[in-house]
Amino acid sequence: MNILIAGITGLIGKKLAIDLSPNHTIFGIGRTKSNVLKVTKNAFDWNDDLEQIISKNQIDVIINLCGASIGQLWLKHYKFILKNSRFEPTKKIVSVLNKFPHIHLINASGIGVYGYTKSTDKNEGQESIPAKTPKNFVDKGFLCRLSREWEKLACTHKNTTLLRLAPVFDYYGGIYKKIITPSILKVIIQFGQGEIPFPWISLSDVSSMIELIIQQKCTGAINACTDEMITYKEIHEKIATHHRCKKITIPDEYVSFLFGQMGTELFLNGSQAKPLKIIKSGFVFKFPNFDSFLNNTLS
Ligand SMILES: NC(=O)c1ccc[n+]([C@@H]2O[C@H](COP(=O)([O-])OP(=O)(O)OC[C@H]3O[C@@H](n4cnc5c(N)ncnc54)[C@H](OP(=O)(O)O)[C@@H]3O)[C@@H](O)[C@H]2O)c1
Repeated sequence: MNILIAGITGLIGKKLAIDLSPNHTIFGIGRTKSNVLKVTKNAFDWNDDLEQIISKNQIDVIINLCGASIGQLWLKHYKFILKNSRFEPTKKIVSVLNKFPHIHLINASGIGVYGYTKSTDKNEGQESIPAKTPKNFVDKGFLCRLSREWEKLACTHKNTTLLRLAPVFDYYGGIYKKIITPSILKVIIQFGQGEIPFPWISLSDVSSMIELIIQQKCTGAINACTDEMITYKEIHEKIATHHRCKKITIPDEYVSFLFGQMGTELFLNGSQAKPLKIIKSGFVFKFPNFDSFLNNTLS
């Protein structure tokens, strides 16, 4: 198949380009063509005519992974960047897709779409469109509203998969790299008490999941997280033990003070989701629990 990846220069995009290229032809689009060229020779930027790119290259699938990192302080201007970096590419894509109804759009989203919760009781984010707020969840947060608005835009194309991603763990990037950065000083820093649910998924499983979604043409909302119930605190404890580091906990009040709304939503409130649909489709996790992910770092 001919697959166009928007946001190919990011963590997930680069991995996908490598994993999908043996069986598919990969095209990439981003803000800077020279950066996209580092990942694929079939490179475009947003000034190129998207309609022509699609028709000339007979694109079958578009994977939209665009979005500025949520891991920076959510100051007013940065909130604008967070929204624009997601909404603008998505609007561009769906605005031409009315001419190509057969194209399968796989649009990234996050499990934050369900809102946040401190409850570790089994309570699953239903994979419905639009996302419903489960019992004991709060759907007033910035991230929740951002994700819902983003999904609404993507869903104007009917043949769409909303991939609701949990934090993605990889040895060489993303959240894991950030957590282990202070390990050179033999410490791991946990922001807040951490008694909150913390769904997660490995980068390797995200990539295989997308491959399966393409193969089986799965549409609708899909939770991309493992089935493991683990807390933010347990994840930090496991990482600290694995790297033989001391775990330092920053009290909740300091987290709110230091990181404002971003700290409160990301570190002091959790989210929950279950990967029901993808498991039903026959997906088998390479790393079903955090121990298996960590143990693989040894090899
Ligand atoms: N990784 C996770 O843990 C995780 C969890 C939940 C949801 N997600 C969502 O999944 C998507 C892909 O994740 P990822 O980790 O691969 O993302 P990423 O590495 O942070 O970046 C993805 C792409 O977004 C574009 N981008 C970055 N900053 C931008 C800005 N300020 N303005 C416009 N475009 C910008 C970049 O493309 P160009 O520079 O080439 O234009 C980049 O390649 C994102 O939307 C992310 O929010 C990720």
